[in-house]
Amino acid sequence: MVLCFLYRSSSKPGGRPPRERLRRRAAWLPVFSGIVCRMPRRRRHSRRGPLLYASGGGSVRAPAASELTQVEIHAIEVSIAGKRYWTPQVARAETQNMIVIMTPTGQIGSRLLDILLHEAPTRDEELRVIMRDPGKLPAAARARVDVVTGSHGDAAVVDRAFTGADAVFWLVPSNPRAPSLDAVYSGFTRAAAEAFKTHGVGHVVGVSALGRGTPLADRAGHVTASLAMDDLIASTGVAYRALANPTFMDNLLRQVAPIRDHGVFTDTVTADRKAPMAATRDIAAAAAGLLLDRTWTGTGEVPVLGPEDLSANDMARTISDVLGRPVRYERQSLDDFRTALTGRGIGNAIVEGYVDMMRAKDEGLDDDVQRTPRTASPTTFREWCEEVLKPAVLA
Ligand SMILES: NC(=O)c1ccc[n+]([C@@H]2O[C@H](COP(=O)([O-])OP(=O)(O)OC[C@H]3O[C@@H](n4cnc5c(N)ncnc54)[C@H](OP(=O)(O)O)[C@@H]3O)[C@@H](O)[C@H]2O)c1
Repeated sequence: MVLCFLYRSSSKPGGRPPRERLRRRAAWLPVFSGIVCRMPRRRRHSRRGPLLYASGGGSVRAPAASELTQVEIHAIEVSIAGKRYWTPQVARAETQNMIVIMTPTGQIGSRLLDILLHEAPTRDEELRVIMRDPGKLPAAARARVDVVTGSHGDAAVVDRAFTGADAVFWLVPSNPRAPSLDAVYSGFTRAAAEAFKTHGVGHVVGVSALGRGTPLADRAGHVTASLAMDDLIASTGVAYRALANPTFMDNLLRQVAPIRDHGVFTDTVTADRKAPMAATRDIAAAAAGLLLDRTWTGTGEVPVLGPEDLSANDMARTISDVLGRPVRYERQSLDDFRTALTGRGIGNAIVEGYVDMMRAKDEGLDDDVQRTPRTASPTTFREWCEEVLKPAVLA
């Protein structure tokens, strides 16, 4: 059996060739399982930086630990200086699949990328990210993904990024100064929706919200616009799963200062009204599961409900417990909420979208989906407070 071993130096910043070229070269390098392989002897230069290849037989230099993150081994087993490194796949470069990920610096996107970096190599999946500033990607991740620079709202960017893509993770960023909610969600998604069709993308997983099918769905501001975005994506004919999310636990990170300095957090919902809440890490895990197992077809929703319904007062009790000091919930009127958002320079259409959404949530927007083993997600609010909120408050 012919196996391939490819070593890529990234000693020059950005020094990597296009992946297709890497793969082609890799396929020409025969190394046999169990044979100690020679570490780089020949140095070649691609257009974008140096490449170092290994070939079969001979003595070796063990790679330094810092180099190991940059080694791609397309072989079942390779032995280097007595150490053995594995990859579960025989190199099948031409049949590899490609998953494209937006917002790798965001809460959900960064977690998703972590999961996929861990899981993708064992499943013959390649990863590509779209991001505005590649410098924000940790070096170890940058060496293992294709990066398309730009915004995923830009037609030329998604056209480049979706070339050869099998699956796409879709997430729309906030835009506080957009002229309308339609511009934030469907407007931002339109170019990608076209590109899904042009490039024959098979599967898309999008971040959306709970509320579809409820009487409140068409007057829930941001949620209404997010559901319209789901419809737009579904209309392209891709297989689509909308992650139907409740409020994120992680939203509380915006209130670390008042929690720490004044022992209080605010929201507009009734203090004792229970509703689902999910951790962004669980949303990322749900996205990863769908992106890696693409046996699903058609369109639909995947609710991510968290393990239990919580009221603001429940949250205050848990936060107090975890932090070891009293923290209370203070309810803000929708008028005060509107004034506070406007004071932060957020445009009128976006502010009204938040007000409508919060009103709908207090009227039961998130209550319709039943929690089952399929719709529940694992992270409890207490775990989230211990692992995420507390370190942020103590930092
Ligand atoms: N918060 C909730 O309770 C809730 C509930 C349901 C659904 N949602 C949805 O969840 C999503 C937010 O997810 P998140 O919390 O993971 O996001 P996030 O942490 O706020 O991350 C936003 C990401 O968008 C990128 N970005 C910002 N502006 C951009 C632009 N113009 N073009 C391209 N990229 C841009 C940022 O990258 P840079 O590094 O370039 O800035 C960052 O990676 C939204 O779609 C929201 O509607 C939220």
